[in-house]
Amino acid sequence: MNEKKSYYITTPIYYPSGKLHIGHAYCTVATDAMARYKRLCGCDVMFLTGTDEHGQKIEDKAREAGVTPQEFVDNIVAAPGGVLDLWKLMNISYDRFIRTTDDYHVESIQKIFRKMYDNGDIYKGSYKGKYCKPCESFWTESQLVDGKCPDCGREVMDAEEEAYFFRASKYADRVRELLLNTDFLEPRSRVHEMVNNFIDCEGGLQDLCVSRTSFTWGVPVDFDPGHVVYVWLDALFNYMTALGYQNKKYDDVENFWPADAHFVGKEIVRFHAIYWPAFLMSMGLPLPKKVYGHGWLNFNGDKMSKSKGNVVDPHLLSQRYGVDALRFFLLRSFPFGSDGNFTNELLIQTINNDLANDLGNLVSRTTAMAEKYFGGTLPGDCRGDEALDGELIALVKGLRDRYEGQMEKFQFQNALEEVFKVVQRANKYIDENAPWALAKDMDANGTRLAAVLYNLLEAVRVCTVLLIPFMPESCEKIFAQIGADEGARTWDSAAQWGVLPTTVSVSKGENLFPRIDMNKELSELDAIMEEAKKAALPALEVEPFLEEQVDFDTFCKSDFRAVKVKACENVKKSAKLLRFTLDDGTGTDRQILSGIAMYYKPEELVGKTLVAIVNLPPRKMMGLDSCGMLISAVHTEQGEERLHLLMVDDAIPAGAKLC
Ligand code: MSP
Repeated sequence: MNEKKSYYITTPIYYPSGKLHIGHAYCTVATDAMARYKRLCGCDVMFLTGTDEHGQKIEDKAREAGVTPQEFVDNIVAAPGGVLDLWKLMNISYDRFIRTTDDYHVESIQKIFRKMYDNGDIYKGSYKGKYCKPCESFWTESQLVDGKCPDCGREVMDAEEEAYFFRASKYADRVRELLLNTDFLEPRSRVHEMVNNFIDCEGGLQDLCVSRTSFTWGVPVDFDPGHVVYVWLDALFNYMTALGYQNKKYDDVENFWPADAHFVGKEIVRFHAIYWPAFLMSMGLPLPKKVYGHGWLNFNGDKMSKSKGNVVDPHLLSQRYGVDALRFFLLRSFPFGSDGNFTNELLIQTINNDLANDLGNLVSRTTAMAEKYFGGTLPGDCRGDEALDGELIALVKGLRDRYEGQMEKFQFQNALEEVFKVVQRANKYIDENAPWALAKDMDANGTRLAAVLYNLLEAVRVCTVLLIPFMPESCEKIFAQIGADEGARTWDSAAQWGVLPTTVSVSKGENLFPRIDMNKELSELDAIMEEAKKAALPALEVEPFLEEQVDFDTFCKSDFRAVKVKACENVKKSAKLLRFTLDDGTGTDRQILSGIAMYYKPEELVGKTLVAIVNLPPRKMMGLDSCGMLISAVHTEQGEERLHLLMVDDAIPAGAKLC
């Protein structure tokens, strides 16, 4: 019989549609810290993560890449630099990894869908929406951009598709009750947003469309070929199928369901706090104990996104600073429930202040002094002095409880704050007791010196036990340096004082957290990120072709002529405009103004033969008449707009008509 208390915690399962960034790692590192903390406390932990591999987006991406959807996801999940690799790099101690394309999961989802159909909570109806024919995609009104398809920008049309629906409306009252009157969803600030926007909104909680026929990359509805299960129903049930619900692959439902905590990003709280409990209610299953909606990690104030080219690569950062420093930074610098703003400066500052100056310094000073004054082994008599040591000892003794209070609320930042208050107090204790002064007269002060060092080692030990969930590898190294054996690394031992033997042997090891030169590092990082940003942008982009056709007669009305540049100058007080004096073959100079000063110097254009449309009505610009428009080619290269004036053979005479 398993006497340990069980603890089941999950991360969202990730879309393997591209490389994961530091924002994705944020949630997984937090979940890992929680899982390690619970293991430290003696729980039997199940930590689940995985990948959510179905849906139109994956199908489209695979098509673009010229591979099957399965090949596409296999490549992102298991290939070097892929999801599994990243979790290995970040030292994520998951117990189980589920892929929604795993056979056992697919089989379970089919059974679940059928059960909900049989119990009347899934019914067949029709899905009305806006349809983009070229993309074969349905959109809701709110997804459209300027009334057009958000993917390709083309016109959409009203369309209807046969689909299955889940009777979410039936569960609206129970879900409202769950959200308002229990602590199911945290932080509390997210509760009202959910209730007001999705349950008590106009029209109430709507039934949810849970099947699609417009693409095939999903779990097939086994009793109605042509339909695939909606990706969120498929994905949410991973939390149960990974325990063996409706399959024989595992047998852990009894042990671990209901889950203790689902950690999810704020934009997917809706699925976890409304539809997930409603699905479970429909299946008559117990509800998870907690959904925690964490904030986003932004970059320099902006949401990280591949298209903005501002995603931060965890591989790069962990290579430069070590995985533990990165893990620590993520949980130390931002309150878990709110958005956080990632900057390189904050990262370096946190590493320098907390890890190099405070913790690293404390460990290296303490072990170095123990080596210097006692050859590395304390003499055995380490009696403390209540007046001098009482405050530090009391602070250390109460630390585990204070830390536990914060960890139980998922307040990682506050838990770390408690630990670092002790680290800082211990550094101050060194200065107050000035061991170097005591060492000047070992006969008189040797015992006191030993006591001071012993107290410091104990303070380091307790802090290190509590830092295990955040920096597992570094903690191992600190334990080795301060001579803490297995018994001195446990949760129980963290509430006790005097666990290290008074004859403990220490060894000053490598510098765990080297100080970083802020300015040098910032400029290197900026350069690397700028390069990466450029590389992430499409090499070349041309404007989409216009759908609308122009009839031939209308086109022929445009009068294009070869014109020769007689003179060209910048327009005063305008950063953009160039003023051209042109020979258009009529014998009278033509003046055209063109907003291209950032692309050309006036002198480089004199003498060139350009193309202008000459029958546009004159326009005033900066008080000057512009009679026509010069024709140029535009495109975007690595995110920057480029422009080239159309220049033709100088043999073409001024005034020649282009047709
Ligand atoms: N597949 C769904 C989850 C299904 S769970 C049954 C999904 N996947 S995702 O890959 O798009 O996102 C995974 C998680 O990463 C989400 O919780 C999301 O909030 C989180 N993050 C993505 N970018 C983030 C930041 N910049 N900051 C913090 N978390 C962010 O959603």
